[in-house]
Amino acid sequence: MFKLTNKSVIITGGGSGIGKAMAVLFAQQGAEVHIIELNDQAAADTVSEITAAGGKATSYACDVSNQQQVIDTFAKVGKIDILINNAGIAHIGKADTTSTEDFERVFNVNVKGAYNCLYAAIPALKANGGGIILNTASIAASVGITDRFAYSMSKGAIHAMTLSVARDYINDNIRCNCISPARVHTPFVDGFIAKNYAGREEEIFEKLSKSQPIGRMGKPEEVAALALYLCSDEAGFITGTDYPIDGGFITLNN
Ligand SMILES: NC(=O)c1ccc[n+]([C@@H]2O[C@H](COP(=O)([O-])OP(=O)(O)OC[C@H]3O[C@@H](n4cnc5c(N)ncnc54)[C@H](O)[C@@H]3O)[C@@H](O)[C@H]2O)c1
Repeated sequence: MFKLTNKSVIITGGGSGIGKAMAVLFAQQGAEVHIIELNDQAAADTVSEITAAGGKATSYACDVSNQQQVIDTFAKVGKIDILINNAGIAHIGKADTTSTEDFERVFNVNVKGAYNCLYAAIPALKANGGGIILNTASIAASVGITDRFAYSMSKGAIHAMTLSVARDYINDNIRCNCISPARVHTPFVDGFIAKNYAGREEEIFEKLSKSQPIGRMGKPEEVAALALYLCSDEAGFITGTDYPIDGGFITLNN
């Protein structure tokens, strides 16, 4: 079960954290992995790790918020079976403490970046007789979380985008779902703690860990396992659905 033999998979943000764990697992399952990354070195390191283990992977330096770069990069990849829109950036702030620049930066990467990849990938998926799209949303799309104004809005857009795409291409044999992790221990979390809570890193890490009723943050590998299921043939009846993976965050915080 869950084999991806010879499937061509694009993973954005596959150089770090959740995207890297997906790239490693998908390659183990037989996929040919294409990592689209802003951080060339991180992407090259993931590719080295995959190829050293006998898997197939290639990295492409690309900023997903730049449509021309995305179009050119997807043209180099060619055949696509699976697209994972995973690249994303964090931001801490409320409506009245979020600058226009930060608002636009978050939307350009988290929302426009996903749209750019859909725009480039869907014709290729259709030409290939169908395929699978998986978007990384967040629990912030469905729960009010303190100080995550622009980020939460961007992930709400990812959820809505998932429903729209799932509906529009259902007759083209394209399935589209999203996953909504709670806190997962990756450089993304360490980065925003270091940037926004200097000197209180341990306290905030502990607080964020305990915000999941299960008592800890998720692991990137746990998220990758859910992604693998949703991108496998075994999940052929699933489309237009959001999957929380959250240690009980949404339903058990009472
Ligand atoms: N870690 C969490 O707690 C958590 C929770 C919910 C959702 N998410 C989402 O999961 C996804 C991955 O998060 P992560 O924790 O693995 O983050 P991460 O920072 O470890 O990895 C994200 C990767 O995306 C790349 N990236 C950023 N901007 C890019 C751009 N413009 N073009 C191409 N690549 C770009 C970065 O270089 C980085 O390698 C994000 O969409 C994030 O919003 C994370």
